[in-house]
Amino acid sequence: MIKVGVIGSGAMGSGIAQVAATAGHAVIIYDSNKSALEKSKSSLESTLKKLVEKQKISEQKATEISSLITYADDLKSFAECGLVIEAVVENLEVKQKIFSELETTVSGECILASNTSSLSITSIASACKNTNRVVGIHFFNPAPIMPLVEIIPGISTDKNVVETSRKLIDSWGKITVLAKDTPGFIVNRVARSYYGESIRIYEEGIADLPAGQAGFATIDWALREFGGFKMGPFELMDFIGNDINYKVTETVWEQFFYEPRFKPSFTQKRLYEANYFGRKSGKGYYDYSAGAVMPEPRKHEELGKAIFNRVIAMLINEAIDALYLKIATKEDLDLAMTKGVNYPKGLLKWGDEIGLQNVLTTLENLQAEYGEDRYRPSILLKKMVKENKKFFS
Ligand code: NAI
Repeated sequence: MIKVGVIGSGAMGSGIAQVAATAGHAVIIYDSNKSALEKSKSSLESTLKKLVEKQKISEQKATEISSLITYADDLKSFAECGLVIEAVVENLEVKQKIFSELETTVSGECILASNTSSLSITSIASACKNTNRVVGIHFFNPAPIMPLVEIIPGISTDKNVVETSRKLIDSWGKITVLAKDTPGFIVNRVARSYYGESIRIYEEGIADLPAGQAGFATIDWALREFGGFKMGPFELMDFIGNDINYKVTETVWEQFFYEPRFKPSFTQKRLYEANYFGRKSGKGYYDYSAGAVMPEPRKHEELGKAIFNRVIAMLINEAIDALYLKIATKEDLDLAMTKGVNYPKGLLKWGDEIGLQNVLTTLENLQAEYGEDRYRPSILLKKMVKENKKFFS
């Protein structure tokens, strides 16, 4: 079994190390910040203790996992690794420096992977002499719990590197999907409208309560009630953190050369500026302080269905466009949304169920009404409707 190296012992690096050790790999983890490394060690111990208490793993397995992980002071200790996964801060220069340093440390066979959510794998690989062995291996937070992992080849990644990485991560009990090296890969691209279109509806005041406040509670209710989503978009943004969600939105929009479909909103930017990050800061869209009263949604069925139809049409259109542009296969696109962000259904299958003609009509009406490019239907959606086809028969 190959030795696995992890660089960065924050939320993601620690989780990835735990997953690899649970699969039986010897793992070495490094962080430039000593206290982050110590924190990672103690939080792993308390996680393993909880798993034993809940009888999810035996005491023996917990001891085995913890003894498989070692903590390193520098990159030199990575010489024997067969795979290194980098999970440091989301900064291209920092990542490139690590990759070029790594290349001089590890053997020629070692696969070099990045867990980046929004940077291009090709740009990270460009810091290396041998770019063929650099690949994106993108876990979701929390890594030990979320089943999805996106595998992203850069422009010059060797096919064998992609296959070996995919097989290896599959053997860790994860569900892998293959994604093209484009901004947001699959999930962070396709999911954008869930937030963006919901905020837009909120900004327009369409969902406002009679008292004129907290329309977002109505939108959350609509998506839960008529879509079956576990969390409404505003609850989910507060859960993820409005700082993280805003940054991802901004990055994806910029990297798509300012594509209007991905345009960020002032609403979210102001929340970010005000440090209204959500649950972790005690206030976001909702107030989480003790004794705060949660706003009640306006449970108006016609309004709720209209909100759901608009958001789901945007999401389905995004998934269809990603398929058209060969970002992933139709199977992987649907798997990614159900396993990476817990959507109740894959979006292409959902489109089939709602009826692609209905999705197209919703988008065409929005486009006609607003006159905005943001609502333009994907050419593939138009073709599918014209030919009376479905994605899955
Ligand atoms: P984090 O902030 O929790 O951890 C980053 C760690 O990297 C810190 O402990 C920091 O000390 C360390 N670090 C910074 N510079 C370093 C260097 N030069 N050498 C070694 N260690 C260094 O960040 P998080 O959330 O774990 O994210 C890490 C990566 O994973 C980022 O690229 C992020 O985009 C990606 N990611 C994050 C997800 C999330 O939901 N948090 C989900 C999927 C991917």
